[in-house]
Amino acid sequence: MNIVDVMKTRRVQRAYANRPVEIDKLRAIVDAGRHAMSARNLQPWNFIVIRDPATLKRLGELCSTGKFIAEAPAAIAILKDTNNTRWADVDCAQAVMNMANAGWSMGLGTCWIGTFEGDQIASLLGIPAGWAVFTVLPFGYRDDKRPPQAKPLKPRAEVVHFEKFGNHQA
Ligand SMILES: Cc1cc2nc3c(=O)[nH]c(=O)nc-3n(C[C@H](O)[C@H](O)[C@H](O)COP(=O)(O)O)c2cc1C
Repeated sequence: MNIVDVMKTRRVQRAYANRPVEIDKLRAIVDAGRHAMSARNLQPWNFIVIRDPATLKRLGELCSTGKFIAEAPAAIAILKDTNNTRWADVDCAQAVMNMANAGWSMGLGTCWIGTFEGDQIASLLGIPAGWAVFTVLPFGYRDDKRPPQAKPLKPRAEVVHFEKFGNHQA
């Protein structure tokens, strides 16, 4: 798949096959995150790769809108540098998107988890001062019995303009 096809076919995946994820694929996903753009190239991120089932189960308890992480075979926590506040959220979000697309290109799905107990996750993962949990991404192969659902996109004419707002013809 070329990169645009990856971006256009990716869907959030909240259910995962009962199959381990190879560590080399997780390393490749993290590397895609490391290559994201960042303001002033400050790269205000760290990543923790998690495969321990007990840790994943506990993460499920600490992610109120991502309980499904407990059933994932792997996850990657994205940490943001709390001393780099101006653009750190934007930079980390780009790392997340790179990682989601990289995973999808390798047959792996993920879902952004937005609501979680950050302090308790920091304690669970031994995160030092100066770093905060930005999000935790579960990763796993598709469960064919529970495939990702396509979400409706806003129509192109509603969101795309040419030269001036309201012109829909190029
Ligand atoms: C910032 C952000 C936070 C999100 N938080 C959650 C979440 O907590 N739980 C969840 O199940 N999905 C979450 N999502 C996934 C969105 O619901 C999903 O991306 C959206 O419905 C579009 O689906 P698609 O990515 O498959 O196209 C989040 C997405 C973003 C970008």
